[in-house]
Amino acid sequence: MNTHAHVVGWGKSVPQRVLTNDDLARMVDTSDDWIRTRTGITERRIVSDGETTFSLSLQAAQRALEVAGLKPSQLDLIIVATVTPDHAFPATACLLQDALGATQAAAFDLSAGCTGFVYGLSVTANLISAGVYENALIIGAETLSRITDWSDRATCVLFGDGAGAVILQANEADGGVLSSVLGADGSGGDLLCLPAGGSKQPASHRTVAEGQHYLRMKGREVFRFAVRAMPAATREVLELAGLEVSDLNLLIPHQANQRIIASSTRALKLEPEVVFSNLERYGNTSAASIPIALCEAVEEGRIHRDDLVVCVGFGAGLTWGAAAIRWSAPLPPAPPSRWERARYQLRYRYATLRSLVRRFLRWLFALGVKE
Ligand code: ACO
Repeated sequence: MNTHAHVVGWGKSVPQRVLTNDDLARMVDTSDDWIRTRTGITERRIVSDGETTFSLSLQAAQRALEVAGLKPSQLDLIIVATVTPDHAFPATACLLQDALGATQAAAFDLSAGCTGFVYGLSVTANLISAGVYENALIIGAETLSRITDWSDRATCVLFGDGAGAVILQANEADGGVLSSVLGADGSGGDLLCLPAGGSKQPASHRTVAEGQHYLRMKGREVFRFAVRAMPAATREVLELAGLEVSDLNLLIPHQANQRIIASSTRALKLEPEVVFSNLERYGNTSAASIPIALCEAVEEGRIHRDDLVVCVGFGAGLTWGAAAIRWSAPLPPAPPSRWERARYQLRYRYATLRSLVRRFLRWLFALGVKE
């Protein structure tokens, strides 16, 4: 019997704070009309002080665990796909492992730009199919507002913050992730980058003064790459699964620009209702865009049992990727009872306590160890 990776849980978290196009028009030389007609974006969510990639990831992960009905201790693997981790290290995935009390899980961050979530999904599905892991949490989470130059109208109108989570589970039933394709072309790395803060240009007064810690993008070139990459990856992943574009029930593309989504829809000869878009409300949330869209597609009743769903993305690297999923989870998911919810809260309290105790014991042990 073959093992397949099935989607059994999903959750999202977006900040409360809304930044509209009109707000932006008061900050830089732009207009609601320009942003809507060139990108399709009307508003985006922006984190407030105290919110981080980790805090958004935690909320999305908790919701996904509730939908899956899994205990954090049942997770074998946690991947956080992000280009805006809380720290270069430790990994945001490790902060999450600790906060959830996922005591049996390996945890790491994954950097593949906006394709990060699809990369995480693909790697995890293959590990599950190979029998390595049983339950895995994959998160796409970003706080792009923290690396956005709010005086650069060419980029600041595009991005937003948020997180989406999916749980994949091993099961011998047919369905789940049917196929996935991943690609990269590092020759286009300069088209989308964060110049400073790494080993090439460590943070210094000069890098800060020059604004080198802000995201830089050559928008037109990225656009040209995206309109080729998304239809090609969609066709490839379907072919690998022995399926046709006409079999698709829902395409969930990376939400970067409505013109890129419309161009891909035309290139694949799809009806617009087969293609999901929530870009208008969130902007481009990079690695978080596809899992947030997946959650909203489920919430809006756009996905049914046995539907064929393709998630397809492109992003910094350059990278691209797609995953074809035969949806097998029951819909709508049964909401957890008040008692189950209380048990989850207790588990998270216990995880906080456990973390404190482990820190204390480490401190105590260090006192007793002679150099
Ligand atoms: N408001 C008003 N005018 C603007 C704005 C703005 N916010 N931004 C640019 N303009 C001006 C430009 O200065 C230019 O003026 P000019 O003709 O006088 O020089 C004009 O509008 C046209 O600029 P273009 O860059 O050609 O505009 P374009 O139609 O290409 O749209 C955009 C720009 C929206 C950035 C588009 O190129 C795009 O969406 N590219 C893809 C971006 C993307 O998908 N990024 C993915 C990120 S993935 C990741 O990993 C994070």
